[in-house]
Amino acid sequence: MELIVGLLLLTVSLLPCKAQGSSAVTPVFVKKGEDVLLKIMKADELQKFSFFSWKFNASGILVTLTPKAEPEIYPRYTGRIEFSVENYSVKLKNLQKTDSGVYTAHVVKIPQEVKVAEYNVTVQDPVSPVDLTVDSVSRSSDSCNVTVTCRTQDSHINSTFRCVNQSCSQEGGEQSKVTTSGASLQVYLDLNGSVICNHSNQVSSTEDIKTIEQLCPRHSDLTQSQKGASVTMIAVILILVSILIVIVIVAGVVYHRKRGKYNRESIENTVYEVPQTAATAQTPVQRPTRDVSELSPTSTYCLVGPHTGTVESTETRDKPLPESLYAQVEKPAKPLKK
Ligand SMILES: *[C@@H]1O[C@H](CO)[C@@H](O)[C@H](O)[C@H]1NC(C)=O
Ligand SMILES: *[C@@H]1O[C@H](CO)[C@@H](O)[C@H](O)[C@H]1NC(C)=O
Ligand SMILES: *[C@@H]1O[C@H](CO)[C@@H](O)[C@H](O)[C@H]1NC(C)=O
Ligand SMILES: *[C@@H]1O[C@H](CO)[C@@H](O)[C@H](O)[C@H]1NC(C)=O
Repeated sequence: MELIVGLLLLTVSLLPCKAQGSSAVTPVFVKKGEDVLLKIMKADELQKFSFFSWKFNASGILVTLTPKAEPEIYPRYTGRIEFSVENYSVKLKNLQKTDSGVYTAHVVKIPQEVKVAEYNVTVQDPVSPVDLTVDSVSRSSDSCNVTVTCRTQDSHINSTFRCVNQSCSQEGGEQSKVTTSGASLQVYLDLNGSVICNHSNQVSSTEDIKTIEQLCPRHSDLTQSQKGASVTMIAVILILVSILIVIVIVAGVVYHRKRGKYNRESIENTVYEVPQTAATAQTPVQRPTRDVSELSPTSTYCLVGPHTGTVESTETRDKPLPESLYAQVEKPAKPLKK
């Protein structure tokens, strides 16, 4: 007993240090409607407390726990949180903006209450979309100045880009602004020379990206542009033609396959009508041919024969040939077998 009390006193005397260690507030940003798990960092060291609690903004209580009892989740948080009795973590579910605030975990260890975790939770809406538009372009033979606007619902910024020999720079460097909702709106050049309009907060971002070619078309010199145009025209035409060819081929193949499939299905259906009608739906492709071939080659022709118009489709190449072949085989086969 003395030993236990001694240990208890020892841990209590160590507690203020731990409390200081965990008194650093951890900032957490959560997208509205999502969940967050708030953990106790050294849960295994939390032995032998007489009372445990998670609080919101120091006054509201989420959940309390006393040893050898079920945790008590307060009515305001019923269904909105999950508490783990193993590690004392609490999961806050479907967070709304009003859930933003400071969440703290406390243990009471005689003789004091110690803070064991503290999180500053901020619930944010995802940011709205952005739009990057060109306001003006001025071009000379080798340079181009373009002014753009990066715009969101409640805010916008302008910026000018100057391109000389296709190498661009942003006048005045990266432009940025904090919107009324606390998000950041930025416009800048990325490493590929594209202009990026970026609207972001801690939980989301939206972008509109335009290449410098889109903003400031090249080849303002006429002869160069004509040459360039004719070369690109030829390339475009070649590409279009080859795409067309591919499309035609693919369409042809697909069409023939589909026809083949429909025809095969109709064969299968009619074949099945003879031996078993109900079971056809399950494995229509393999069974008829297997069944038929198991009987004997001659009986195959007997069954398939009457549907000459469809049989040809399994070998789509020479339509009249198999037709006449099957027709010929069919008739002598019957009398031979019987
Ligand atoms: C604590 O337990 C919960 C539920 O059992 C689990 O989801 C969570 O990951 C655990 N957290 C830690 C820090 O172990
Ligand atoms: C909780 O506290 C934060 C600041 O610490 C405050 O912004 C927020 O409005 C408070 N929430 C409630 C519901 O009291
Ligand atoms: C672009 O802007 C620079 C500096 O403002 C100016 O010197 C240059 O003449 C402009 N170029 C064009 C094509 O307007
Ligand atoms: C936009 O900004 C956010 C935050 O700085 C960043 O995470 C994201 O990658 C940026 N998007 C682009 C396309 O650079």
